[in-house]
Amino acid sequence: MTQAASAASAPTRDAPSRVAAWWIGRRRPPHPAPPPTALVLGDRSPEAARALHGYGFAVTRWHRRLAPGQRCSAWPPAGPFAEVWVRLPRSWPEAEMLLHAAAARVPDGGQLFLYGAGNEGIRSAASRFPPGADGPRTLCIRRRCRVLAATRTAPPPRPDGLDHWTVRAPVDLGRGPREWIHYPGIFACGRLDEGSALLIDHLPPVPPGARVLDYGAGSGTIGAALAEGSPGAMVLLLDNDAIALTAAARNLPAAPRILGDRLGHAPLPIDHIVSNPPIHSRRAQSLATIERLVRDAPAALAPGGALTLVAQRRLGLQRLLGAHLRRVRTVADRGPFRVWRGWTAGRAQSARPPS
Ligand SMILES: C[S@@+](CC[C@H](N)C(=O)[O-])C[C@H]1O[C@@H](n2cnc3c(N)ncnc32)[C@H](O)[C@@H]1O
Repeated sequence: MTQAASAASAPTRDAPSRVAAWWIGRRRPPHPAPPPTALVLGDRSPEAARALHGYGFAVTRWHRRLAPGQRCSAWPPAGPFAEVWVRLPRSWPEAEMLLHAAAARVPDGGQLFLYGAGNEGIRSAASRFPPGADGPRTLCIRRRCRVLAATRTAPPPRPDGLDHWTVRAPVDLGRGPREWIHYPGIFACGRLDEGSALLIDHLPPVPPGARVLDYGAGSGTIGAALAEGSPGAMVLLLDNDAIALTAAARNLPAAPRILGDRLGHAPLPIDHIVSNPPIHSRRAQSLATIERLVRDAPAALAPGGALTLVAQRRLGLQRLLGAHLRRVRTVADRGPFRVWRGWTAGRAQSARPPS
């Protein structure tokens, strides 16, 4: 969906929200009391929601991923709402899922809005509105961003609810193909990521009773492989995406799940952390999450505990890991990926200690 645009001219992630706010600000006169209700889906920038509030709406915001001070859950509140505003997400399946959820939350005659940037695909997004959302039309084009609107004339074809967006696809975690549950917008939806597969092939055996955290667990592939390879280990799954954790709950029902975005959100100490960590923030590459994970690992790990992570070799994480952990080793190297492992000081309790 993303087309490359030069960094200098590409709109920032907040630009569509500002453009939506600009359009809302030109809607005059302000709505009379009592305030109608509006729902904003998946916009981390507050601009559009603020503008709706200024226009007279009682505004609810919903996020699937943790956002500071914001409601975060696996599915939007039921409503109904007079209008629903959808920030164009990263993939088309997720866009279709959110537009369906939006259409289920307005009455017939209610308005659905979709806003995003040209380099995110908003120019071809009109076809993603569900049947029964009439006319998708462009309300405004500004700063390489667009606001589209459609009027609901009939309920959307799929029933409301995350269950109706289940993606079932076989994955092989080392013991043959098995059915695996994903939802739109989850990392590597419908397949096993190459980097995760490499990490799964090189997971350390951990002793019964050891507490292992899959950080950035997504649908739970790495945690599931670890639980199978080390029966008796207590596997915890942490992710900042409530929808990913819903998939993980279906794939690995016995594992406790933590909706969080840092090690401190897990019960500590941990004996072993395994991770295929995110290397993007919004659309741009960012090592901020990896850096925090590695920096926080020594305090979160039990003495002798270990961190094993997979990432693209080009990221050259050896130095970062070496700055915070002992005896950092390359455990595997395949294609563009590398698996590193490092230990904290103290008596090793999880994976085999460095000799
Ligand atoms: C590269 S994906 C790996 C997913 C999964 N482990 C797999 O192998 O399929 C990274 C995961 O980290 C999650 N994530 C992103 N930022 C995070 C953060 N700050 N804290 C925790 N999880 C985060 C994403 O939702 C995503 O599920």
